Amino acid sequence: MKRVPVIAANWKMYKSKDEALEFIFKVNQAVPSNEVVESIVFPPAVFLNLLVKREGENLRIGAQNMHYADEGAFTGENSPMHVKTAGAEYVLVGHSERRIYYNEVSETVNLKLISAFRNDLIPILCVGETLEIKEEKRTQEFVNHQVEKALINVDKEYIPKLIVAYEPRWAIGTGKNATAKEASGVITHIREKIASLYSKELSEEVRIIYGGSVKPSNIEEILKEKEIDGALIGGAALDPENFIFFTQVA
Ligand code: G3P
Repeated sequence: MKRVPVIAANWKMYKSKDEALEFIFKVNQAVPSNEVVESIVFPPAVFLNLLVKREGENLRIGAQNMHYADEGAFTGENSPMHVKTAGAEYVLVGHSERRIYYNEVSETVNLKLISAFRNDLIPILCVGETLEIKEEKRTQEFVNHQVEKALINVDKEYIPKLIVAYEPRWAIGTGKNATAKEASGVITHIREKIASLYSKELSEEVRIIYGGSVKPSNIEEILKEKEIDGALIGGAALDPENFIFFTQVA
């Protein structure tokens, strides 16, 4: 089955308003058509509304985070409705920085995933092991467990919309990427895990992408692997020229 590749830029807590606008103006007309590549930018939440108004036909906008509740006394948080109203069509769920610094446990990740689907947002579920787990050769067991926990009570009707990002924690922002073969191996097993939870047919529809020190010098090799459906990129995708390049090679 042919899956549309995904190129996603996670800006994290970077870029001023002017830099954000400059990026959007530069890449808007340059990214390929949405049927060929899904090109998505995840800016800080306060920029969503500003950027969505300037979005081109092919560039998509997503939120880096949201609360799972529809509303409530949660100071400082944004609900799914808030991020959607601000223009997000996608949302990152369970990014390792959220898991590490904001104590997002697997139950929270699961609730956010369910909430994203219920609110018609496309989630990118992030999973990945620490260096310690890798060295203990428990990567697959750990990642499969994260996937399984995240998908508890997720109805099969939503699975074709799901995007999973395999982002080993030791590769994030370190300059050390997983090799294309390593990433492809883990991704193949993630797909098998989803097949065991739902069905082979449904698992074939899920886009599973790689993240962790992706850069212009390694993206082509990574995307050559047929199991890898795209990339979630941090540092290197802050540069508009790089982002355009990533979408062109996908
Ligand atoms: O979400 C993307 C990310 O965590 C990878 O960051 O800077 O290693 O590409 P980076």
